[in-house]
Amino acid sequence: FDFAEPKNEPVLGYAPGSAERKALQHALAEMKATKRDIPMYIDGEEVRSDNKVEIRPPHETAHLLGHFHMSSEEHVHDAIDAALDAREKWAAMNWEHRASIFLKAADLLATKYRYRMNAATMLGQSKNAYQAEIDSACELIDFLRFNVHFLSKIYKDQPISPAGMNNRMEYRPLEGFVLAVTPFNFTAIGGNLPTSAAMCGNVVVWKPANTQVYSASVFMEILIEAGLPAGVINLIYPPGPMVGEICYAHPYFAGVHFTGSTGVFQSMWKSIGNNISRYRSYPRIVGETGGKDFVFVHPSANVDAVVAGLARGAFEFQGQKCSAASRAYLPANLAEEIKKKLVAELATMKMGPVDDFTNFVNAVIDEKAFKSITKYIDGVKNGNGDAKILCGGNYDSKKGWFIEPTVIETTDPSYVTMCEEIFGPVLTIYTYEADMWIQTLEVLDSTSPYALTGAIFAQDRYAIEYMTKALVNSAGNFYINDKPTGAVVGQQPFGGARASGTNDKAGSILNLYRWLSARTIKETY
Ligand code: SER
Repeated sequence: FDFAEPKNEPVLGYAPGSAERKALQHALAEMKATKRDIPMYIDGEEVRSDNKVEIRPPHETAHLLGHFHMSSEEHVHDAIDAALDAREKWAAMNWEHRASIFLKAADLLATKYRYRMNAATMLGQSKNAYQAEIDSACELIDFLRFNVHFLSKIYKDQPISPAGMNNRMEYRPLEGFVLAVTPFNFTAIGGNLPTSAAMCGNVVVWKPANTQVYSASVFMEILIEAGLPAGVINLIYPPGPMVGEICYAHPYFAGVHFTGSTGVFQSMWKSIGNNISRYRSYPRIVGETGGKDFVFVHPSANVDAVVAGLARGAFEFQGQKCSAASRAYLPANLAEEIKKKLVAELATMKMGPVDDFTNFVNAVIDEKAFKSITKYIDGVKNGNGDAKILCGGNYDSKKGWFIEPTVIETTDPSYVTMCEEIFGPVLTIYTYEADMWIQTLEVLDSTSPYALTGAIFAQDRYAIEYMTKALVNSAGNFYINDKPTGAVVGQQPFGGARASGTNDKAGSILNLYRWLSARTIKETY
């Protein structure tokens, strides 16, 4: 085995006329033409229920992609039982052999299934080709390969043994099953949360968001082809509250690996707390939740860098990244130029379905998201509070859930869209007096409960130092002169504290430690 530090999977460009574009278009057409009937996977078996749920592309709601089979309470119990039955053999397996399954899955993704996986993400989640490539190909492949590498470092990490003694650490999996609950917005997160725990020898019940089932099931097929034994990861689709109720009441519930909303995460903690005396061990609770990610522009900033950072940071994948820029603080000396250039830049972004590769903006995920995002926009249009629309603001749901990239301007740093997570293509701008930049940092830090990502733009080195220190707790991923999105596995470990999560950095050694329970052994002779 060679578990040396891997290289990041290169990003394909899908240039017009390229072989990769043709291959991706072919995969898209093929997937669109097939009505997939997506089963659950419990104990290595495909399981179907009589409760079928339709799947439609968010950008083309008239088209039926297929169905998935909704899980009942019985399926949740079956998934837990299958996981616990598989546990002993999986935990006893040589870790390098476990790892080789995930490395094989990474290779299958990189080669044989890259286009199918990207097409599934494009159709199921309405990502453009580039956004799908950096997610369901590169990031997912990187998670698998880098986690194997990090794990090899953990297993090698041993205590010292003075003469006459042998001390060692045995990194055991948790005693029970891990629940992975994954969001729609990154296929890679969907793949990472169950596999990182499983790689450490744990058995997993995986519940993706309904809006992720389409791509999650393709990844599951790849894991099975790579040799994942039955029962190690069980993929089910129950309603969220049902899976929680059953898993958190189980004595062998060993942990939850979660990415999703702050509200859901907080209710998980409460249910787990209420059941605390039932468990064999204290469960590991690892979550990445919301964000209200900032871009703070210092009076010395380079305007073009700011405009590029805002346009891409706020509007890639329709702003549905927990890392997306959603509030910007502009100094008065640069504000007019930045706004003018930003409006011009956004006017070049085409919106439409994913099949047309020139569309930068696609649809938001579903009707619920569409309604909740447009409510904020309507609030501004209706004159609630001190805000106006700078550009965008139109939306249309005739063919899909389309919302224009929208920039709101406010003179109130506590305006609702400066504070609440919107999770859509909406950026709010607040302009401050240039000589008030230090005071404005304090405003920034106190107006939102989140601390996931943030970016500062400045050319003044002293100002960069000052801001980096002043905002020490404001973001778990802090970017200097770059957009706050697009963390790369192995380069920028990802996660935040405060209301944004437990900051156990996905795709890092810190995260993997959470899925291991160490035994220290001392032997004397
Ligand atoms: N890793 C993603 C990003 O940095 C968010 O999950 O944009």
